[in-house]
Amino acid sequence: MVLAAGKGTRFSSELAKVLHPAAGRTMLRWVLEALRPLGLERVVVVVGHQADAVTAEAEAARLDRLSTVVQAEQLGTGHAVRSAVDSGALDGIDTAMVLPGDVPLLTPEPLRLLIETHGRTAATLLTARLGDPTGYGRVVRDPDGAVARVVEHRDATAEERAVDEVNTSIYAFALPSLARELARLSAANDQGEQYLTDVIAPLVPEGVGAVVVAGADVQGVNDRVQLAAAATVLRRRILERLMRDGATIVDPATTYVGAEVAVAADAVLLPGTHLEGTTRVAARATVGPDSRLVDTVVEEGATVTYSVLTGARVGSGANVGPFTYLRPGADLRARSKAGAFVEMKNAVVGEGSKVPHLSYIGDAEIGRGANIGAATVTVNYDGYDKHRTVVGDGARVGSDTMLIAPVRVGNDAYTGAGSVITSDVPDGALAVERTEQRNIAGYAERRAARHERDREAAGDAAIRPPPSEPEG
Ligand code: UD1
Ligand code: CA
Repeated sequence: MVLAAGKGTRFSSELAKVLHPAAGRTMLRWVLEALRPLGLERVVVVVGHQADAVTAEAEAARLDRLSTVVQAEQLGTGHAVRSAVDSGALDGIDTAMVLPGDVPLLTPEPLRLLIETHGRTAATLLTARLGDPTGYGRVVRDPDGAVARVVEHRDATAEERAVDEVNTSIYAFALPSLARELARLSAANDQGEQYLTDVIAPLVPEGVGAVVVAGADVQGVNDRVQLAAAATVLRRRILERLMRDGATIVDPATTYVGAEVAVAADAVLLPGTHLEGTTRVAARATVGPDSRLVDTVVEEGATVTYSVLTGARVGSGANVGPFTYLRPGADLRARSKAGAFVEMKNAVVGEGSKVPHLSYIGDAEIGRGANIGAATVTVNYDGYDKHRTVVGDGARVGSDTMLIAPVRVGNDAYTGAGSVITSDVPDGALAVERTEQRNIAGYAERRAARHERDREAAGDAAIRPPPSEPEG
């Protein structure tokens, strides 16, 4: 049972707490990923606050045998578990694990340990000793060291607050015993909630054990300060995994790689690189410095420098940047180039073709081996609709060409610099659209003379300040 119905008041957020992301995954998703390798018989996610969105996120994990149960009112962690049990979603199960949805650092290891230790007792708690246990439920043990009960921080006495062993909110239970005690829960506590922790004391006669694990991986995230701290740990784990698998990460402190990103061996990430979503970087490709790639594919040996790419593809050996913006559907084929101050969207740049400087290429298809001169614009939008531009293989588009779409520049065709191309250019032709140049001889000299004459005529007036406005 994963408890994910709470609002997360301490987040002060419109968004349900478990849907907040850390290092490229929501907190809920991190927890479900920790469960994935355990081969559990069923996974029941208790949803409530923003139930539809949380359900969608749980289902997106595509865990086998996952179902959700709605806790209509969030009356506490005990009530959440009771909702799951009463729903019938756990019928036929005799041992159940309970976890909160706000432990993104969780890994499978402490859960395996919990499952192994639990055996036939009524309950087993996963506990940890924390340097600063503030906010957590404390595990109160009797003089023999056996677990006696759990007391919430806000209900604890000063003596109990001095206990540094905390309840991680991860437990294994004998389900029939748990169900019986859930039915007896009261809400007589500081928060007026039905606490799951209150089932522990009455289960002691049937056997309650505890497994103490290192605190780092089982810490709950209750606010955005803790979220940021967790994200830092997760990010470091991702980078270490990638480095161990052969990626070079020059400066882990300034490199941000999301959980779903793939970086191949011998790829190089330079400082200030952000890889997000489903981005993939292939072998021998170099990304950075200072680049942000979202849902982008970078093929073998390509380079991306000081650029922002979303939903783009950079073919093998292609070069992007510096200062390039590639938007969804930008598709650079092998050995092509998108250079400085170039923006592209929904555009194929054929093998070996180059768009080196200061251009906008949108809704376009550029063939192989073409060159697009500096400051070329595909004028794709007429205020109503978007239109396509096609540039053929080997074409040479002159600098500052406006390609008014829909339009086609043929194979091996040319356009003269500064032309506004409104109709198709046949294969092999040169299209020039501009007035003849006139040279006016002696212009500079005549202009200087005129300026001198004007100054003399004006006398001192020219250097006196203008008269101030009369008052009134
Ligand atoms: C809980 C424990 C505390 C423990 C700590 C560990 C209780 C009463 N307290 O406190 O002993 O030290 O976790 O991190 O259990 N939820 C629901 N429905 C509800 C209320 C909560 O589904 O009605 C879910 C939340 O979405 C969350 C989880 O249960 O994922 C834990 O709730 P939270 O409010 O974070 O509990 P803590 O105060 O952290
Ligand atoms: Ca919590």
